[in-house]
Amino acid sequence: MNLKNKRIILIVFLGVIGLVLLAGCATTQSTPMEKSGAQLWGENCVRCHNAPSPAAFSDVEWETIGMHMRVRANLTKEDMLKIIEFLQLANG
Ligand code: HEC
Repeated sequence: MNLKNKRIILIVFLGVIGLVLLAGCATTQSTPMEKSGAQLWGENCVRCHNAPSPAAFSDVEWETIGMHMRVRANLTKEDMLKIIEFLQLANG
């Protein structure tokens, strides 16, 4: 194989890597940025056990459980605060 062919193969190869990286960024950006507390609760709190009913615990208990489950569910502080807010509003 001559040098010119090697160069072409290298350029095509780098082009493919570039496209894969671009596609990766595009999918990240297309995911919805803002989710409601109710949505986050429905998506995350069912992964390990049944999603607990908002009425099952008091406001103060939800704050403690929130701190505990945030670590388990690997959620950001902001997302967990939204979930706690939702649980507290929904438990009346
Ligand atoms: C990665 C797994 C995992 C995820 C995700 C998770 N939990 Fe849990 N949860 C557990 C485990 C394990 C226990 C029981 C042991 C414990 O309390 O540490 C538990 C227990 C609980 C309890 C029972 C506490 C009690 O005293 O009866 C509540 C309420 C709860 N989780 C709420 C939540 C909420 C709300 C979320 C969503 C933000 C959530 N969990 C997400 C693993 C998880």
